[in-house]
Amino acid sequence: MKNSKQKITKAVIPVAGLGTRFLPFTKTIPKEMLPILNIPSIEYIIKDAVNAGIKDIIFVTSARKKALADYSDSYPWLENELLKKDKIAELNLIKHIPSIANYIFVRQSVQLGLGDAVLKAKYAIGNEPFALLLGDDILINDFKNINKNSILKELVDLYQKYQKTTILVQQIEGKAIEKYGVVGVQKNIDKNNYLLNSLVEKPNFKNAPSNLAIIGRYILKPEIFNYLQNEEIDPKTGEIQLTNAISKYLKDNNDVYAHLFKGRRYDMGNILGFLEAQIDFALNNKKYRKVFSEILKNKIEAIK
Ligand code: G1P
Repeated sequence: MKNSKQKITKAVIPVAGLGTRFLPFTKTIPKEMLPILNIPSIEYIIKDAVNAGIKDIIFVTSARKKALADYSDSYPWLENELLKKDKIAELNLIKHIPSIANYIFVRQSVQLGLGDAVLKAKYAIGNEPFALLLGDDILINDFKNINKNSILKELVDLYQKYQKTTILVQQIEGKAIEKYGVVGVQKNIDKNNYLLNSLVEKPNFKNAPSNLAIIGRYILKPEIFNYLQNEEIDPKTGEIQLTNAISKYLKDNNDVYAHLFKGRRYDMGNILGFLEAQIDFALNNKKYRKVFSEILKNKIEAIK
């Protein structure tokens, strides 16, 4: 069977980063466990994958990430305690993540960047196309259907249609584009989808090929591993850049697509994004909306 016809059933989620922007919290607890309300942010990433049909999730992890492994495992003692106390809703909450996917852990012992992290998943992926989800980017299309939410599904559906490497992008205006990988567009494929002609990691605002920034969802073909293997460590960052490997793949194959994301994005990699997520999720939560709106209104009044 040709790779291109295979279904996307595996996803890589790199979680080896140090989370320095959240120190001292991240001295002992992975930043992926930071909650939005009561739910660890990684749960939204896992559900984005599972709701897109992913069965196997490969975490690329590092030292001090044990909480993540425990979170994706069942916890019979706590399950029994909750059962004895007839706390069924809470029981279902803790049983959910262990039951919806298979979890595989591979280690990235030296922090050599995103490209290297993806390369570490090579043997768990094998020779098939796969999804890549970055844990910092929580993406929401529709708060009303939050449990079915999946942005990755849009990319998986596009892959089924075109069988192309596909990257999610978002319009970012002004100098903020310098914090992202940025794509250049060759032509429109259809509404919201583009064939690319370049990818540049964190360009200078003046040299950015467009205002379309790469955000954390990709469908990659196994050929990308060959490009990653040949990628040199970037002397400026000390990292192997995934964007550079995809750029070389694009030059050889001319078949990388980008899909435009129009929903809400929360950057859980920094404290302001984390705060914004708390507010929006609380305002969109049946249980908290009313009371929290009042609290917020009072705060805004106080600011005025
Ligand atoms: C990574 C990617 C970058 C992308 C960004 C999205 O950068 O290298 O291309 O735009 O994620 O969040 P990082 O934020 O890890 O520096």
